[in-house]
Amino acid sequence: MAHRWTNDLTLADATPKAAFLNRRQILAGTAGLGAIGLVGAGGAAHAQDALEPNTFEEITSYNNYYEFGTGKGDPADNADKLEITPWSVKVDGMVDNPGDYTPEELLGGLTVEDRIYRFRCVEAWSMVIPWNGIELADILNRVGVQDGAKYVAFETVVQPENMIGVQRRVLDFPYVEGLRLDEAMHPLTLMATGIYGEPMPKQNGAPMRLVVPWKYGFKSIKSIVRITLTDEEPPTSWNNANAREYGFYSNVNPTVDHPRWSQASERLIGGGLFNSRQDTLMFNGYEDEVASLYEGMDLSQNF
Ligand code: MTE
Repeated sequence: MAHRWTNDLTLADATPKAAFLNRRQILAGTAGLGAIGLVGAGGAAHAQDALEPNTFEEITSYNNYYEFGTGKGDPADNADKLEITPWSVKVDGMVDNPGDYTPEELLGGLTVEDRIYRFRCVEAWSMVIPWNGIELADILNRVGVQDGAKYVAFETVVQPENMIGVQRRVLDFPYVEGLRLDEAMHPLTLMATGIYGEPMPKQNGAPMRLVVPWKYGFKSIKSIVRITLTDEEPPTSWNNANAREYGFYSNVNPTVDHPRWSQASERLIGGGLFNSRQDTLMFNGYEDEVASLYEGMDLSQNF
């Protein structure tokens, strides 16, 4: 199956919701579904050739942000308490320009990209999200990565008085994540600052959150307050919580099941184009772009 890289799709390419309904009729009426590649082996439809973004409402009402509770609706209900002004991001470790940066200092003047990405949660649901943001590589180049740095560690803000999930200690907070430096520098890796051209909603990780589209969603850490360059693999929250179930890499991989469920397919939030489930793609459909990062690695061991 040919997997299309959506990196060069911009928001302007997204079919408006109203037009989409027409196109759906057109597709159904004029082209055989098989002929346009929407029916995969086994008959499971796959929306890969027609990446249709989820609605703003879907993207902002079905969330994982455990600092605000474990229910899918909890972040939307509770995250309005998150205080995002002022905001400061500490950049430290093996960098030329360490310091405490305001968002403007960290991101100002860098190119804002519009990226429509598949987003696949380890819980086997998925969405398509039109992000706005800055390539993480641009930010890392701005702060100056020193020779010898091999990993980037990230940390989420902790505001105990505002975060009901922190009060209940549902995970060890702060939420922490990490990437290998080459993953962090990959052009698909985004520091997202908005959705659909709107500033990042709080439940989605305002004011800035990572998006690593070929990895399970929990790598895409929200509301970042610290970025550390290091030569050691950093600890990550879900690996700390359960190393048997969540590895450091967490690349989307339909052939490596979670110990408690299959990762072969995923449920489309919002119902999707032609079906409510679709086959999960290797590296979430970004295989052509990222497979070379893992050459020679056993992906069932380095899961
Ligand atoms: N970041 C923090 N700080 N806390 C979280 O609980 N959840 C992760 C990730 N980033 C999480 C987080 C998980 S499991 C997923 S699937 C995505 O955020 C969900 O992002 P979304 O709510 O924008 O869809």
